[in-house]
Amino acid sequence: MKSVVVGFGGALPKRCVTNEELSLQLDTSDEWISSRTGIKQRFIAQEEENTATLSTKAALDALKFAEMHPDDIDLIVLGTTTGNYTFPATACLVQKELGINTPCIAFDVSAACSGFLYALDIADSFIKSNKANNALVIGADCFSKILNWNDRASCVLFGDGAGAIVLKGEKNTEKGVQYCKIHSDGKFSDYLITTGGVSTTQQAGFVTMQGREVFKFAVEKFRESFEQLLSDNSLTIDDIDLVVPHQANIRIISMLAEVMKLPKDKLLITIDKHSNTSAATIPLALNEVKNTLVGKGNVVLLAMGAGFTWGAALIKI
Ligand code: UT7
Repeated sequence: MKSVVVGFGGALPKRCVTNEELSLQLDTSDEWISSRTGIKQRFIAQEEENTATLSTKAALDALKFAEMHPDDIDLIVLGTTTGNYTFPATACLVQKELGINTPCIAFDVSAACSGFLYALDIADSFIKSNKANNALVIGADCFSKILNWNDRASCVLFGDGAGAIVLKGEKNTEKGVQYCKIHSDGKFSDYLITTGGVSTTQQAGFVTMQGREVFKFAVEKFRESFEQLLSDNSLTIDDIDLVVPHQANIRIISMLAEVMKLPKDKLLITIDKHSNTSAATIPLALNEVKNTLVGKGNVVLLAMGAGFTWGAALIKI
């Protein structure tokens, strides 16, 4: 049994905020943000928009692409750290908004920027063990709600959004998820952490980050996970058609390309348009090129986030 990707979807908030606009209220500049990160703009959720509404939009978009009805879905796994409520899970809110009337399991996964990859691995395991047939895998975050808008070192980096894919269990196919390996190491939890949480401060807190340490770790783990993926699957860089890394900083991605000798045209880059949307960056990037993806071949996904968490996946689309 393979989990085949049959749908891609995405949703961004209506409001786009450029670097120039941010520099009117903060001691920063388009020059600094663009040259240090590659970010030109980000989308920020307005009052009526949140992780559940964006996820639902992305899910409907993915279902449309897959030509499937919400009732066909029997599993929703949503990677997020900015859910609408402490409980219920935002995945349950999506299930409700989609109007699913058939048996369906829905839950959230907390792995920060690696949330989509974790959700993918879990959904793939459910399908392979016949616990689900058709899964919505969503990565969604509204980091604008947990940013300290006076901290220029962190607030310029993030934006809001949601991306979704539909996984369908199929036998006798070459396509689908070939490999997914996720990791975590809590030793590094302080490097990228919010200032609070339910059982400590009773508030979500704000994002804090030791940027340089996170940067170095991301470059190292992207390379390590990618090399492991190639060796575990007896592949070389030439066998890879597209690489979709988590979009945190263009310089992280460029360093990865350099160390892996990866041609630039095999890299999918969306950080300029979307900024870092945490768990949403990978599925939102896939959604950007969805009409050229089918039959694409070997697609590699690379993630790294707070925890630290990280991992890599290989999908034949
Ligand atoms: O999704 C996973 C989570 N995030 C990441 O992976 C991010 C990883 N880290 C990074 O992308 C980079 O470390 C940053 C973009 C966050 C920072 O880049 P950097 O080249 O490491 O800069 P820095 O933090 O060392 O700061 C350099 C200077 C400092 O000024 P001084 O001390 O040299 O005078 C900062 O105060 O840039 C200053 N600075 C800014 N200046 C203008 C920091 N933020 C800004 C800003 N605008 N927004």
